[in-house]
Amino acid sequence: MLVKVKFSPDNIVVEAEAGEPLLNVAKRAGVSIPTGCLSGSCFACEVEMADQPVRACITGVPSQAEVTIALYEDTLW
Ligand code: FES
Repeated sequence: MLVKVKFSPDNIVVEAEAGEPLLNVAKRAGVSIPTGCLSGSCFACEVEMADQPVRACITGVPSQAEVTIALYEDTLW
């Protein structure tokens, strides 16, 4: 199943397969998500998926038509 994945705040949209790891999708989209352990324990890769915090390294694309991934941003602007 193809899922439309939107990365905010830059509104970059890519298509992904349901179940594909979020980190792979982000990489393909040219979106950089910080990583550390890549095994779910350090929370460096935390993003919000449908308003829920998830760790991108252990989370797959959900089986739904589209989903928004919100990146946490530095607020030093
Ligand atoms: S990279 Fe450590 S939790 Fe994802």
